Amino acid sequence: MRAEEDAMAVVPHAGPDTSGPNVRIVDMRRRHLRAVTRIEGAVCPRPWSIGLFLSELAATNRRYLVARAAGAVVGYGGVMVGAGEGHVTTLAVDPAWQRRSVGSRLLLALVEWGLDQGCSGLTLEVRMGNLGAQALYRRFGFVPAGVRPGYYAETNEDALIMWAHDVSEPAYAERLKAIAARLSAAGTTGGDV
Ligand SMILES: CC(C)(COP(=O)(O)OP(=O)(O)OC[C@H]1O[C@@H](n2cnc3c(N)ncnc32)[C@H](O)[C@@H]1OP(=O)(O)O)[C@@H](O)C(=O)NCCC(=O)NCCS
Repeated sequence: MRAEEDAMAVVPHAGPDTSGPNVRIVDMRRRHLRAVTRIEGAVCPRPWSIGLFLSELAATNRRYLVARAAGAVVGYGGVMVGAGEGHVTTLAVDPAWQRRSVGSRLLLALVEWGLDQGCSGLTLEVRMGNLGAQALYRRFGFVPAGVRPGYYAETNEDALIMWAHDVSEPAYAERLKAIAARLSAAGTTGGDV
């Protein structure tokens, strides 16, 4: 790992360090984009281009993070905030690193940043058939709130709109604390940074 990336590790605003022993969550930089778009190409039917990520990185009110492990980028995600709401724009994990809590660690850091920005609600769209991602989002308090028919034009798949409400309330802070504690206890296996 490069020293400057080590220094940029995201420390959640409160509670335990959720980076885990082998996975570090850091701000997405231009130098990560080749790895990011490689993962994007592997997991997304309509992958974002490097240009699209660059314009997201240049925009205000957004935060993009990558997860690094074993000397490589293994996942990434982003959130955009506005009008007291946070919109998770993307979340993806290298197939070789899935089901090792990388997505949870990324989402936790994104949600915590959204809360720091004053969000009282969080939303996202997810493919109707993507039950794995929906299970992850439910763990973070997201519930189905509507459908955008044919939102994913390339596959003509509907989007499920999910919302997590009242995220500035103490009950949601408790939910995040429990998630963070579980992640700290579990660590993440499978590589040295
Ligand atoms: C969705 C995604 C980001 C999850 O990342 P991940 O690192 O594998 O997720 P985690 O290991 O943190 O999983 C946390 C929980 O979510 C649920 N979950 C995640 N993936 C699942 C799957 N494929 N099937 C069923 N449940 C799943 C489980 O409850 C899991 O907990 P468990 O492993 O203790 O059972 C990853 O599968 C991915 O990149 N998918 C392709 C891109 C994508 O669908 N992105 C979301 C678009 S909105």
